[in-house]
Amino acid sequence: MRLANTIFDGLQPAHVAVPRAGLHSEVIVSTANVTLVPAIRTDAPVLSNLLELYIHDLSGVFALELGEDGRFGYEKLPLYWSEPERRFPFLIRCDGRIAGFALATRGSPVTPNPDDFDLAEFFIVRRYRRTGVGRDAAFQLWNRYPVRWTVRVSEANIGGCQFWSNVIAEYTGQTPAPTSHPGRLHPWRVFAFDSASRASS
Ligand SMILES: CC(C)(COP(=O)(O)OP(=O)(O)OC[C@H]1O[C@@H](n2cnc3c(N)ncnc32)[C@H](O)[C@@H]1OP(=O)(O)O)[C@@H](O)C(=O)NCCC(=O)NCCS
Repeated sequence: MRLANTIFDGLQPAHVAVPRAGLHSEVIVSTANVTLVPAIRTDAPVLSNLLELYIHDLSGVFALELGEDGRFGYEKLPLYWSEPERRFPFLIRCDGRIAGFALATRGSPVTPNPDDFDLAEFFIVRRYRRTGVGRDAAFQLWNRYPVRWTVRVSEANIGGCQFWSNVIAEYTGQTPAPTSHPGRLHPWRVFAFDSASRASS
């Protein structure tokens, strides 16, 4: 009797060279090999696909509607390559496989300093969640840019709030004191901290 991989039979495109783990394989992920890889222009379709998963995940929080093409879309994505001095896109890989993405910007909508960085979007695919991949990737991003950072999360995104609170506390070694900012449906929780002080310690 076949158990593992049954769902993928007949679905996996022939051009996929790397075999996927079966759905029933044990989900044990080492966080030792998490990499934050700058996304280049040819990665745009991959990021666009991942953004659909991300936005769908958050569509309950923000009451987002699909377009008539069945996609949410993310209009700002091309700017990540046309404004390379202020937008920084990354793929997150775990043991070489795509595990998520991060989009960062120089300039935050919630601080006046144009050189502050903002973590605009951050996503880990479900396969790799709660294994420390998000934590590792966020640490790599903050270490890469030793600046003042803002991280904004909707207060209705309970898991996201808990994640950022715990990860920022661990990174800074201090209990975060987020501020609350008005949002369309729910307030935003805003964390602000300086990664330069940790990078130099
Ligand atoms: C939030 C998200 C990025 C977390 O990524 P992750 O790789 O699963 O996080 P980690 O495994 O590194 O978690 C580190 C710690 O954060 C906390 N945490 C993470 N997800 C949590 C959740 N859903 N509920 C409560 N705490 C959570 C835990 O303390 C966790 O440590 P533990 O697993 O040892 O208890 C991921 O769930 C995700 O992409 N969600 C959808 C998109 C999203 O909300 N992005 C953030 C928008 S601002």
